[in-house]
Amino acid sequence: MIEALRNLEKDARSEVESLSDPTLLQDLKIKYLGRKGLFASLSSQIGQATPEERKLIGQELNRVKNTLEGLFSEKERTISQGGGSEAPWIDTTMPGTFFEHGSLHPLSQVVLDITKIFRALGFSVVDGPEVETEYYNFQALNIPLNHPARDGFDTFYFENGRLLRSQTSPVQIRVMEKTKPPVKIIAPGKVYRPDATDATHSFMFHQIEGLLVDTRVSFADLKGVLFAFAKEFFGTGTKIRFRPHFFPFTEPSAEVDVYFPSRGWLEILGAGMVHPNVLRAVKIDPKKYSGFAFGMGVERMAMLKYGVEDIRHFFENDMRFLKQF
Ligand code: DAH
Repeated sequence: MIEALRNLEKDARSEVESLSDPTLLQDLKIKYLGRKGLFASLSSQIGQATPEERKLIGQELNRVKNTLEGLFSEKERTISQGGGSEAPWIDTTMPGTFFEHGSLHPLSQVVLDITKIFRALGFSVVDGPEVETEYYNFQALNIPLNHPARDGFDTFYFENGRLLRSQTSPVQIRVMEKTKPPVKIIAPGKVYRPDATDATHSFMFHQIEGLLVDTRVSFADLKGVLFAFAKEFFGTGTKIRFRPHFFPFTEPSAEVDVYFPSRGWLEILGAGMVHPNVLRAVKIDPKKYSGFAFGMGVERMAMLKYGVEDIRHFFENDMRFLKQF
């Protein structure tokens, strides 16, 4: 009987080894270990043994049973891990692995929309440093030291005299220092002002600066470009108006409003003809060249276009807000 048990173990081993299908493995398990299986019928013969033999046979029965059970559960495990000898078994009814689609932040989208419009009008896109000097942020833009005009551009200073730019206008200077007219650029980027945060203020926000310098540039050119832009960005029926204003770096200067049927005239940007002092600062002859410039707030444009009521929505990373764009 011991002999028969050992043969049973050997057969089971080779049969289990040659299988990799989970259903066939279950059938095989029943064949060997089922209630009416080969092992059960062998062990029922123990009654025929002498009492001395029984002890030995009993031990062997236990050993073979444990071995077979281990054999089957080991094989079940390797099959379920795809480790069968054939191609891994794939459950095609399992849900797959999904990755969420990312998307651009609404402010990035608006910057792209705006730059695309100006690119089509022939402007190139440039950028400049966020850490600036007083010269670029103020003096070269015709904002003298101790001039009250500086109050409007409240600024973060570093201890070494540098500052976080409070406007993108210094990019005008950096470009004109390096490029002879014609100059036709826009410059999107971050600006910083020590303002208390509320629904319309943030200590960091984005602006897009525009500059065109050439011979014979007139205020009519400025109007044409900004009107074309507004129609493209807000829609074909858009109406705009120019209101006289003051900026140190332009003369004359204006603020531009867009008409929203539900809310009336709302300011979208500042603009004007480049001040002769600004051209002189970069050694461009104001008798020969003229230009226009403008600057707009990106958050403001996004809020007007999409009816966003609070600037803080852009910076709080609330997916319920961001997913709408
Ligand atoms: N730099 C101005 C600001 O931060 C915006 C501006 C107004 C830019 C008129 C210009 C301009 O280039 O011509 O409020």
